[in-house]
Amino acid sequence: MKTELLSADAPDAARRAVALLAAGELVGIPTETVYGLAADATDGAAVARIFEAKGRPRFNPLICHVPDLAMAATLAEIGPVAAMLAEAFWPGPLTMVLPLKEGSPVHPLATAGLATVAIRAPQGIAGRLAAALGRPLAAPSANPSGRVSPTNAGQVLRGLGGRLPLILDGGPCEVGVESTIVLPEADRLVLLRAGGVGRAELARATGLPVVDPAGDAAINAPGQLTSHYAPSGRVRLDATDVAPGEYLIAFGPAPVAGQDRAAAIVNLSPSGDLREAAAGLFAALAGFDAPEITAIAVAPIPQSGLGEAINDRLRRAAAPRG
Ligand code: TXA
Ligand code: MG
Repeated sequence: MKTELLSADAPDAARRAVALLAAGELVGIPTETVYGLAADATDGAAVARIFEAKGRPRFNPLICHVPDLAMAATLAEIGPVAAMLAEAFWPGPLTMVLPLKEGSPVHPLATAGLATVAIRAPQGIAGRLAAALGRPLAAPSANPSGRVSPTNAGQVLRGLGGRLPLILDGGPCEVGVESTIVLPEADRLVLLRAGGVGRAELARATGLPVVDPAGDAAINAPGQLTSHYAPSGRVRLDATDVAPGEYLIAFGPAPVAGQDRAAAIVNLSPSGDLREAAAGLFAALAGFDAPEITAIAVAPIPQSGLGEAINDRLRRAAAPRG
C-alpha cells in the first residue's frame, strides 16, 4: 500500500481523511500530544487494522477521540467529576476512563472488552475529523509496537509507511508526551498515566486529591488482566475435536471433528479472515460467558498477523483462574 503524506492544512485534507475513515481505513493524525493511528472506533474490522498495522499486536484498550463532551456522553457515563474535568481540560491532553454506557457504539475491540472506555477530546484537526465522521476515533500512538511515540509526521511515515493510506501532517506536536490518563471517582482522581496535564493542575481544577493506583495492576494495565477476557466456563484451546455439550468457537471453513455435538457454535470467520476474527473475538467470548456454559472449545487460530494477538487473548481467557 502506498502511504500519502498530506498537509493537514490542505483544503481537501479533512474530507479525504474522513472518507477513508468512513470506509474503515486507517489515517495517521496529528494531535497536540503525539501522532495517532486512527480508525472508526465503532467499526471492529477497522479497529483490528490498527493492531495489525502496529505489528506484534496485542489487543490493549485504545483511547477514543471525540470532538466534545456531547459525543463523549453518547459513549460513556459522565459523572459530575468527569464533567468538571472536561470543562477544565477539553479540548486538551487529558484522557478519562469512564463507565461504558449501555448501548455504547464503541466496538468491544477498542475497549478490549472492558466495561470502561478511555475518552479524550484532542485539540486541532483530530476532533474535527471525529465530528465530521460523526463517530469516535480509536487511536493509539502511531508507532510500531515497541517503538517510541511519534511527534512529527515524518516519524509516522518511517515507522508505519506502507501500512496505511494517509498521514495528515500537522507539524510537530505541541505537547510531545501522551495525554494524562485519570480515573475520576466521586471523591478522588486515580492517576493511571502521567502526561500532558500535571497532577497539580488536576487537583486545582477539581479540589480533589490525586492518588496513584497503589500497585493496583488491575487498574494500571487492564489489557494484561486475564479475568477481563475470561468467560466463566473452562476454555480449551487448539481443539481439534468437540466433546458432547461443549460450546465451540470455530475459525475458518474446515469443520472441527465432532462439531455436530457442540451445544452451540460461533465461527470467528468462516472464510478464515483474521481481521474479521479479531473484530468478533470479544463478542464471542462475552456471548459464551454464562453460568450454564461450563466448557468452551476453541479451534486452532493461525499465529500469523493478527492471529498472534487473538491467541494472546485466548491464552489469557484459558489461563487458570486465581
Ligand atoms: O496522547 C495520547 O493519549 C495518544 C494520542 C494519540 O491521543 N494516545 C495514546 O494511546 O497514547 P496509547 O494506545 O498508546 O495508550 C493508551 C493507554 C494505554 O496505556 C491503555 O492501557 C490505556 O490508555 N487505556 C485505554 N483504555 C483504558 C481503560 N478502559 N482503562 C484503563 N486504561 C485504559
Ligand atoms: Mg503508545
